[in-house]
Amino acid sequence: MLEKLSALEQQALEALEGITEEQALEAWRVAHLGRNAPLMQVFSALATLPREERPLVGQRANQVKTRLEQAFAEKQRQLKEAWLARTLQAERLDVTLPGRRPPLGRLHPSTQQLRRVLSILAEMGFQVFTSREVETDEYNFQLLNIPPHHPAREMQDTFYVDAGLKDDTYNWVLRTHTSPGQIHAMRYFAALNPQDPPPIRIALPGMCFRYEQITARSEIQFHQVEGLVVGHHVTFSDLKGTLVDFCRRMFGQEARVRFRPSYFPFTEPSAEVDVECFVCGGKGCSVCKYSGWLEILGAGMVHPVVLQNGGYDPQRYTGFAFGMGPERQFMLRYRVEDIRFFWSNDLRFLEQF
Ligand code: PHE
Repeated sequence: MLEKLSALEQQALEALEGITEEQALEAWRVAHLGRNAPLMQVFSALATLPREERPLVGQRANQVKTRLEQAFAEKQRQLKEAWLARTLQAERLDVTLPGRRPPLGRLHPSTQQLRRVLSILAEMGFQVFTSREVETDEYNFQLLNIPPHHPAREMQDTFYVDAGLKDDTYNWVLRTHTSPGQIHAMRYFAALNPQDPPPIRIALPGMCFRYEQITARSEIQFHQVEGLVVGHHVTFSDLKGTLVDFCRRMFGQEARVRFRPSYFPFTEPSAEVDVECFVCGGKGCSVCKYSGWLEILGAGMVHPVVLQNGGYDPQRYTGFAFGMGPERQFMLRYRVEDIRFFWSNDLRFLEQF
């Protein structure tokens, strides 16, 4: 019996040796320490042994059982440790690696340029005044001294809006420029003190729409930033100084600026402003179409009729206004050759800025 116990012990320990995983270990426990294990049968058989053999065999059987239990516990510990080591290795993190940056969006080129224009104007004392994109014919044209048969009103230039209203007192349009904001602003400020309206120095940014053939040079929608200054003794020199200063801040201190006489119904006199081509330095190149100059804005002294329509007495007030296109400026600054890039949502374009 004692020999049998030793054989059982040795056999069990040998079997344990080769075990490398939890499942096999459990099977081993059932086989060697479970209720039906040969060792347990030895315990059951104790009663059948001659009385004098019992203590010795019992003692030995207990010894083997303890030995196997210890070996089992030790094996269990080893397996757990090995598992832990493997897991740690597999899930190892290099905490010295730089983090992954979440992909960030960016501002649209139009917005970037719009903000640049507005921040320069803000430095010069202009506050932002926003107004509507859907306008009445009255605000978009009539109050700006654009007579009924002015070419700018022709169908090919203007999007007319079918408002679906029974009352068609108004002809609704998508604004073709930000100039109607001049009237809204003047009326707003004049209403604050009708007898003595306050001076105005504002920038009016916003989207404009024109019913045009879309080409590399013209889009059906684009931004404008309008400037409006109204007060006592505002002169053309103020207009000139303001715009020259603006151009230098926008295009560099060296930028040369030129004023050309022009015509707008809502300003008198009117001018168009060019900056010296910063691509060729005025020598002539394809960007400035070999003229040496780039046209960047329209401007003029606010027409007396327009002042009047805004609630400012043209006898007592004068003013100047200007309008510019951020997309156009952006195209000149970065030599973007096709205005259609702005609204085509092509990431290859947008990601460059
Ligand atoms: N509204 C004019 C345009 O869209 C620009 C302009 C604004 C001209 C203000 C003079 C004064 O072309």
